[in-house]
Amino acid sequence: METPILQIDDLSTHFFTRDGVVRAVDNLTCHVGAGEALGIVGESGCGKSVTSLSVMRLVQSPSGRIVNGAIRLQGRDLLALSEKEMREIRGNEISMIFQEPMTSLNPVLSIGCQLIETIRRHRGVSGKEAWQRAVDMLRLVQIPEPDQRMREYPHQLSGGMRQRIMIAMAFACDPKVLIADEPTTALDVTIQAQILALMSDLQKRLGTAVVLITHDLGVVAETCQRVIVMYAGRKVEEADVGDLFDRPRHPYTKGLMASMPHLHRGLGNGQRLKEIPGMVPSLLDPPPGCRFAGRCAHATALCTTEEPPLTETGPRHWVACWHTGAPAEVAQ
Ligand SMILES: Nc1ncnc2c1ncn2[C@@H]1O[C@H](COP(=O)(O)OP(=O)(O)OP(=O)(O)O)[C@@H](O)[C@H]1O
Ligand SMILES: [Mg+2]
Repeated sequence: METPILQIDDLSTHFFTRDGVVRAVDNLTCHVGAGEALGIVGESGCGKSVTSLSVMRLVQSPSGRIVNGAIRLQGRDLLALSEKEMREIRGNEISMIFQEPMTSLNPVLSIGCQLIETIRRHRGVSGKEAWQRAVDMLRLVQIPEPDQRMREYPHQLSGGMRQRIMIAMAFACDPKVLIADEPTTALDVTIQAQILALMSDLQKRLGTAVVLITHDLGVVAETCQRVIVMYAGRKVEEADVGDLFDRPRHPYTKGLMASMPHLHRGLGNGQRLKEIPGMVPSLLDPPPGCRFAGRCAHATALCTTEEPPLTETGPRHWVACWHTGAPAEVAQ
């Protein structure tokens, strides 16, 4: 296999709070290949955003800390870099798009000003060249009348337009990796589809590796090649997207699929989507063994005492479950 663009090994990020240690991300290993789109999916609170903030080294300190692991961008360990070196990486080699663009756009600066600032900070080009690059980027994200938009302020644009601006900004410096954390959940469904199509198109055309974070498996199906399912801070399943949808192995993944409305367009009258019973365990004092055991219909005594290892159950398909792993594992 080629060296991945981004390699995360045994990442653990914890929050040291007055109530105790929140194990937000626990021993997460994953990678993103060149030009690949990786989806990270899981319920609210499972550690998706903390994973992406860890990669950007933007975990809220002093309570939040990366306590273990390595994060390598083309072999370079980001955790060993100084804050100054990291500032060079953010927005340049790795960029990020957040759920709500108004929190990342500055309301008192024009769109042009913000785009130009990003481009000049990392590219060292003249103001005129940066302006041209900014207009080209707006054109690339299909914003009509880009010269006019450059002079406008965020509040003058619709939510969909603002998210396009964020995408333009994120791609402006040709990043190697783009992390999009729930980039479309604040948008209505038709705009969401347009934004996802735009991101996919740019990802393919520019060859950028994308990490798409979402709680929506439907979004993953449309946009990603590979997917990681997280549960309570841990990776529980990883597979190529088609394989995951055809052969989900982890009971949690199966539960997620059964609860997704768009995967059930054919539901007849009276049929209901199934929700996963029970609650996500607290990450303050997570139970031993499999963290999903308390909600799992197949759980046995072993599941509540021993953490299931990730096991390759098919080509590029990994599952952490005592009852869907390789036969030898199940027999233990
Ligand atoms: N600053 C913080 N202090 C303490 N705990 C935190 C902090 N930030 C996040 N957490 C905890 O870390 C865990 C993971 O949070 P995270 O934001 O990564 O979830 P998520 O998967 O992105 O959820 P969502 O889908 O709601 O965005 C949660 O239990 C959350 O409460
Ligand atoms: Mg989040």
